[in-house]
Amino acid sequence: MNHHVTLIPGEGIGPEVSTATRRILEASGVEIEWEEISGRADESADQSQRVNQAAIDSVRRNRVALKGPMATAIAGGAPSVNVALRKSLDLYANLRPVKNIPGVKSHFEDVDLIIVRENTEDLYSGLEHEVVPGVVESLKIITEKASTRIARFAFDYARRHGRKKVHAIHKANIMKLSDGLFLRSVRTVAAQFPEIQYRELIVDNACMQIVMDPLQFDVLLLPNLYGDVMSDLAAGLVGGLGVVPSANIGDHCAMFEAVHGTAPDIAGKGLANPTALLMSALLMLDYLGERAAAERIEAALLKTYRDGIFTTKDVGGKANTEQFTNAVLDALAATTSK
Ligand code: NAI
Repeated sequence: MNHHVTLIPGEGIGPEVSTATRRILEASGVEIEWEEISGRADESADQSQRVNQAAIDSVRRNRVALKGPMATAIAGGAPSVNVALRKSLDLYANLRPVKNIPGVKSHFEDVDLIIVRENTEDLYSGLEHEVVPGVVESLKIITEKASTRIARFAFDYARRHGRKKVHAIHKANIMKLSDGLFLRSVRTVAAQFPEIQYRELIVDNACMQIVMDPLQFDVLLLPNLYGDVMSDLAAGLVGGLGVVPSANIGDHCAMFEAVHGTAPDIAGKGLANPTALLMSALLMLDYLGERAAAERIEAALLKTYRDGIFTTKDVGGKANTEQFTNAVLDALAATTSK
């Protein structure tokens, strides 16, 4: 079957890791017609931070996108194009599996977590203003609708994938109304999944617990901000941002992207590790019903790490992007010809 997928290569190392990923997917035999498009609206200065409407239309049409990272100005400048894309497409669930890759050095072994982050509201609503000089207000929006649908997504995912436990992470002891509403909504959904253990943890305690003993967790369900912070923290448990995937999923379409950013310090040098985007693409293949191809590529990726000859600098190796990609392609060719 021929799939139509929007490819947003992104910026910085984005085009490098997208090219590598595309080569590997194409070698797997999956038939994908790529519609390549920039995520950022071009040109005029005032538009330079705006999301490209044609990219949104393309994802809506194809229902699936693979996306590289895009830069966002810090403390000033326009809002994030990444956030704008997710919001415009109503990709309300951010799914981040966090798992060790044997051969990648990390502080823990056998970590196998699923992080489900609400993707559309909370402090990412972008509602900020200066009340008087020296005082600003940022609005944290939590709704019953968004909290309920992300909870349903997490519990459905747990049920479909044989996961046993869901922890809701919150700060409802302080933000009694907003995080309180989040928790109440999650509890209502949890009651409909009696076979799945349900637990609650305050976010600061959860941070401590996850670095002390990550193996106690299975599925973590979080509002947007805590989810953003804890998912990077969790990536650090298994070797960093270069080796964990993510998916942004809505009811009508999905966008798969690496967790890391544009890595300006190594962009253009051919040093980027494409593993995170490749693993995101494996989630995409699964979503497209191409599980067999995803498994073949995953086996080739794992072999490359097990052999440990052509791994990139960020994980302690010496290979560049091209050498790593070729090693995965060789391993893939070997498994395919068996
Ligand atoms: P970053 O993830 O770009 O880089 C952090 C560190 O990790 C750097 O040392 C970088 O070299 C390294 N790194 C990241 N990905 C790597 C890879 N694939 N291979 C090897 N090394 C890798 O985070 P930073 O510097 O905070 O952000 C840079 C820009 O990216 C910012 O403009 C930020 O807004 C944007 N960003 C975009 C995201 C997205 O598009 N989803 C996500 C995170 C950040």
